[in-house]
Amino acid sequence: MNQLILGDCLEVLKTLASDSVDLIYLDPPFFSNRNYEVIWGDKGEIRSFEDRWSGGVDHYIAWLKERVEEMHRVLKPTGSIFLHCDWHANAYIRVFILDKVFGHENFGNEITWIRSNPKSHGSKHFPNCKDTIFRYSKSNKFLFNKTFMTHDDSYVDKAYKYIDESDGRRYRLLPLLNPNNDRPNLTYEFLGITRVWRWTKERMQQAYEDGLVVQLKSGAVPQYKLYLEDSKGKTITDNWSDIQQIASKEKIGYPTQKPEALLDRIIQCASNENDIILDPFNGGGTTVAVANRLNRQWIGIDSSVSAIKVTEYRLDAQHGNALKGQTSLHSFSDLFKPFTVQLHKYDYDTLRYKDAFEFEKFIVQQIGGITNNKQRNDLGLDGKTKDGVPIQVKRSDNIGRNVIDNFQSACKRFDNALFERNQSESKSIGVVIAFSFGKGATQEVARLKNQENIIIQLLKVEDIIPIAKKPTLSVAFNDCGLDAKQCREIEFIATGQSEAGIEFYAWDWSYENQQFNFAIVNDKIGKQTQKFKAGTHCIAVKVVDNDGLESIEVITLKINGGVALLPLN
Ligand SMILES: C[S@@+](CC[C@H](N)C(=O)[O-])C[C@H]1O[C@@H](n2cnc3c(N)ncnc32)[C@H](O)[C@@H]1O
Repeated sequence: MNQLILGDCLEVLKTLASDSVDLIYLDPPFFSNRNYEVIWGDKGEIRSFEDRWSGGVDHYIAWLKERVEEMHRVLKPTGSIFLHCDWHANAYIRVFILDKVFGHENFGNEITWIRSNPKSHGSKHFPNCKDTIFRYSKSNKFLFNKTFMTHDDSYVDKAYKYIDESDGRRYRLLPLLNPNNDRPNLTYEFLGITRVWRWTKERMQQAYEDGLVVQLKSGAVPQYKLYLEDSKGKTITDNWSDIQQIASKEKIGYPTQKPEALLDRIIQCASNENDIILDPFNGGGTTVAVANRLNRQWIGIDSSVSAIKVTEYRLDAQHGNALKGQTSLHSFSDLFKPFTVQLHKYDYDTLRYKDAFEFEKFIVQQIGGITNNKQRNDLGLDGKTKDGVPIQVKRSDNIGRNVIDNFQSACKRFDNALFERNQSESKSIGVVIAFSFGKGATQEVARLKNQENIIIQLLKVEDIIPIAKKPTLSVAFNDCGLDAKQCREIEFIATGQSEAGIEFYAWDWSYENQQFNFAIVNDKIGKQTQKFKAGTHCIAVKVVDNDGLESIEVITLKINGGVALLPLN
């Protein structure tokens, strides 16, 4: 399952299996100036920022190295890593991290990405316009798909200067002579010319019959005709100057967001469809958005709630756009790929009203149990512990005495021998899990223990996973009047409340089909002004708190030719 995970990548990486990932791209926070560094400004990011900065470059390198070591462990033997950095620390990163962790022999490339084209000098230096991306592999058995780009027009005009008279196709002529003169089996006469050729006589004859070998005039050495459309394109070197800064339609609004085209190239080169791509410093989710579009599986990790939520909205919008047939670069072959968002806390309401079977399975897994995949004739049992002790999960509050009595008989019927053994050894005969238990249930559990030595363990969901209530949200609006174009300007004021603290607000000015397609994200204040033409408009606001939990408010406004403003709900 594709996953977005909130947390320090060091801790999250430790939970991933060894040799399980095909490609890692990381764009860690650079060792650069402080203000530029803090993108999201939320708790998780600030903590990580302080961690990295406390002891200068040595500290930064030690901080990153620990994480790269874990990345090396989770990478498959055929996998590759692309580490994106800049002049501040690239020399240190190559020598002290990548050569040490991956081995000098597994160095692949030092790619230079020309990210801007400054027009003027700095006060006393050449303008800095590039980043470095190091490519290393875990072994010499790594995947590398050769990639090409389209030729530029001036090159086409020069190199493919011939035009087929019959159909107007462009082509170029390439030599057919073999640079190695000592090949008697390739030495023969063709079109009156005897030379050492690249191809066997049969292949040459076939190409000639296919119209791909031409002799410009009698007595001239035949040449190979390569049509522009048959050329794979321009070889991509380690100097990437053709990828521009992000296009405005991709922009999420922070300075270090990378262009999708950059990730497109990396992912196409070092992975195949269905491979697993990992970005441990996910940011605004460029890697996972591209991996998703290219039909790869993916995992994105970030220590910032804002980064995770922004990525979630970006992927939702990508899905929405795909459904509307408006994909940005390629078409989706599979229109909807579900993903999970793993935060530090679970929202009570979402869990409480989740599909019962899904909820039971999830909870059994959280306590390390084995799930019961039968949905019927299961005695009401949802799984068992590693020792075979039955587990029942109730997706409700205030569980009563009858549940305990029924559970006790079900445990007996499930495995009477185990029941009796555990009873005689004063061990638990079963576990009941619920949001809360009523007095009747706790009294019955106590009675069974005291009178019959039957031990039933009661566990609350909040003892297993951290639960929180999602933020509350209210939205007010003011009519600011008409502008010159007869558009009505409305000021919106969103007020969220949460014990964890509010992280940001996000806005969608044309919400439809329950598909949140944000126009503004990471708004820390919750105040926006927007202009509307006359008509009915559906506006959605989301508030996200420091745990990453969110609420949405949808307002439908009828704006009447510049006269009235009516909320419809
Ligand atoms: C340079 S940005 C990545 C930008 C990303 N490549 C994109 O195109 O959107 C670095 C990200 O690393 C995150 N980060 C910083 N320390 C982290 C840590 N210890 N674990 C996980 N993420 C971390 C920051 O919150 C930030 O979002």
